[in-house]
Amino acid sequence: MRTTWQLLFTALLVTSAAAQSGLEPAAQRGLTMARTLCARCHSIDKVSPSPLAIAPPFRTLHLKYPVENLEEAMAEGISTGHPTMPEFRFDPAQINDFMAFLKSLER
Ligand code: HEC
Repeated sequence: MRTTWQLLFTALLVTSAAAQSGLEPAAQRGLTMARTLCARCHSIDKVSPSPLAIAPPFRTLHLKYPVENLEEAMAEGISTGHPTMPEFRFDPAQINDFMAFLKSLER
């Protein structure tokens, strides 16, 4: 019983936090990653152009391929073969957060 209540309570907390930010917690953490690591080149919102014109806005990534394809790339290290983009590697939890964020841009 106790765990059921804990679960319910957690679900409530999560729901109210998401209602405030408009993003679920994982997507919120993903947004923070994107803001810190990617935003100086890529647009990370739904409207603005990328600061670096040749870097695709993140909201357009899903038009090229399912964003799930990125999960593997992120674990192995994204390198686009473009010298201007540094190589990144992420752990599974970070990738999960980042994917949640990317999906929030599709809506
Ligand atoms: C220093 C600038 C810079 C930063 C920082 C940067 N990128 Fe990029 N990124 C680029 C450029 C430039 C391209 C386009 C490369 C090309 O088309 O050859 C690109 C392309 C991409 C692509 C598209 C690859 C493809 O094949 O279509 C993805 C996905 C991507 N970046 C993810 C990220 C993520 C995730 C981060 C943050 C963790 C990030 N980038 C940070 C410059 C950057």
